[in-house]
Amino acid sequence: MNKLLSAEGLSKHFGAVTAVSNIDLQINSGEIVAIMGRSGSGKSTAMHLLAGLESPSDGHVFYQGKDIAGLNEDELALWRRANIGLIFQAFHLIPTLSALENVAFPLYPDGVKTAERDRAAERLAMVGLADRATHRPSRLSGGEQQRVAIARALINNPGLILADEPTGNLDTETGNEILALFHRLRDEAGVSFLIVTHDDEVAATADRVIRMKDGEIVA
Ligand SMILES: Nc1ncnc2c1ncn2[C@@H]1O[C@H](COP(=O)(O)OP(=O)(O)OP(=O)(O)O)[C@@H](O)[C@H]1O
Ligand SMILES: [Mg+2]
Repeated sequence: MNKLLSAEGLSKHFGAVTAVSNIDLQINSGEIVAIMGRSGSGKSTAMHLLAGLESPSDGHVFYQGKDIAGLNEDELALWRRANIGLIFQAFHLIPTLSALENVAFPLYPDGVKTAERDRAAERLAMVGLADRATHRPSRLSGGEQQRVAIARALINNPGLILADEPTGNLDTETGNEILALFHRLRDEAGVSFLIVTHDDEVAATADRVIRMKDGEIVA
């Protein structure tokens, strides 16, 4: 298996609180991995460290063999933009923008031109929302909003999508559709996924489950 991302001896302290304690993990290309654990066990903090959104107190994150600790802020932002897609429980769409504009939003620093609109439309089609391009988030169901967020995460063809409780705001059936979409994107586009969840049924759909307790990986 082809190693995509790994963490070695990764720790994060917030003052006296140790959120993540000396974890090692590996995600291979095309793998869907779940991180499980009770509230406060350090799942989101671990995800933020892997995405380079937080800097570790100790340890390293390697992406395709490259240590992201060696990158400055600008390089880190470029790296993240090129390689990592992020999905959250609460969708985080911009309410005043259409579905298509939300998907194209990560491209805005370059200015949205026809090519970008075409690319955003293609991503919307990948998640089955070609016919909702002009809808604002308020006119979409929760599941549709999450699919827009997934299309946005896909805009730069990332190797890895990090999803923090992606089904947490959805009913079981809609959540299952989102998980099935992750599997289809893995099969068709080779995207790897790391899914943070505290739901056993969500974790059961993953290829592999990492369990955290009190900041440590316990299984
Ligand atoms: N920015 C921060 N400042 C201080 N403490 C923090 C910060 N972020 C997280 N923590 C603490 O670190 C620990 C791990 O938090 P984290 O959010 O990673 O847990 P989690 O497993 O994602 O929990 P949940 O399932 O509730 O989302 C908690 O004790 C939390 O209070
Ligand atoms: Mg969390």
